[in-house]
Amino acid sequence: MNSTIKNISALEILDSRGNPTVRTYVILEDGTKSFASVPSGASTGQNEAVELRDGEKRYNGTGVQNAVNNVNTEIASALVGKDASNQKDIDYTMIELDGTNNKSRLGANAILGVSMAVAKAAASSSKLPLYAYLGGANAVRIPVPCMNILNGGEHADNSVDFQEFMLVPHGAPSFKEGLRYVAETFHILKGILKSKGMATSVGDEGGFAPNCASNEEAIELIIEAIKKANYKPGIDMSIAIDSAANSFSPNLDGNYDLIWSGLGKMKTADLIEKSAEWLEKYPIILWEDPVSEGDWEGYITFTKRFGDKIEVVGDDNFVTNTKYIKKGIEMGACNSALIKLNQIGSVTETIEAVRMCREAGWRYFLSHRSGETEDTFLADFAVAMDGGHLKTGSACRGERIAKYNRLLEIEHELKGRSEYRWK
Ligand code: PGA
Ligand code: ZN
Repeated sequence: MNSTIKNISALEILDSRGNPTVRTYVILEDGTKSFASVPSGASTGQNEAVELRDGEKRYNGTGVQNAVNNVNTEIASALVGKDASNQKDIDYTMIELDGTNNKSRLGANAILGVSMAVAKAAASSSKLPLYAYLGGANAVRIPVPCMNILNGGEHADNSVDFQEFMLVPHGAPSFKEGLRYVAETFHILKGILKSKGMATSVGDEGGFAPNCASNEEAIELIIEAIKKANYKPGIDMSIAIDSAANSFSPNLDGNYDLIWSGLGKMKTADLIEKSAEWLEKYPIILWEDPVSEGDWEGYITFTKRFGDKIEVVGDDNFVTNTKYIKKGIEMGACNSALIKLNQIGSVTETIEAVRMCREAGWRYFLSHRSGETEDTFLADFAVAMDGGHLKTGSACRGERIAKYNRLLEIEHELKGRSEYRWK
């Protein structure tokens, strides 16, 4: 068979934060070569698949030589001779070989790297672009780019509790135009911040982290930028928030401490009241992790109250794992799940998570990590999964722009066949 795997190997490379990560190479019998690089998160959920780190002196313990070694030895021997076009067989062979329920023996970074590189190899062997190979002939919808432009919480050093504020250009006629709307607004915001004497340095995902006095000021700055860029808030563009509420919930339960803004200690009910005020006042279209991962009642109350109006996304509580997404669906906690390949650690399981959301009538929101590489797998994957939106950082930092550029390329390649819509 020409798509039979001939060789698999891995290399320790650096991610966008300068931390080691895994790059994996696959060669097929027909001569096809591919490689893939694994992202890495910072504000991670408790139940994410385990990123294997060496814990030795080099790179302050963050080296991935053991994960690389696992690819070069055990994983390679188990997969050489298998058909790369049977993604499920490849992924489940690695899952069984690992033998743990969180990929902690071989490393989710080792397994995902191979999983992604195998998908790429199978796609090129069958002469299809990755999005068409994974998504079929109907994979023509280019996701709305939810662009991270302002940061708070653990991603910044200011008085904003929420981790990410994103611009959502749902009123644009195409991806190309949507990307232009948000990139223009990003630059206008930079000018506004400069004129107010505020910092314009950027965080890990490329968003600004100005020293706003409050959460409200952050949102108001964004709205000012949207208007100044000549767009209509709520019509051309709305706002998405990722509270990453784990970061202001010391025990990950229904007790919060909004330390950055000084709003102080709050219970779930108070936090939801605050959210109601903001939802009343501002054009917010999507809210991720409005409460912390252990606060299931909080997710349920929030979704009951606002779920018919906005997309309520679970990230840290679901960790792209069907076990937790199923629980969320049954309980009515959220109406959407964040989807991150490395939270679960294989392409097949990520697709299973997406499928579960789709079957429940949920949305699913494809996402990068704060530590990324120049790999554009996510762009193709988002088109293949047909979810309609993704988050992959701001209008700067090469590892973020690489994904946007790949989406521009896909839209161009599809010519008149591409689609762009929020819902
Ligand atoms: P992370 O954060 O990639 O640092 O985990 C992103 C998020 O919380 O969505
Ligand atoms: Zn998140």
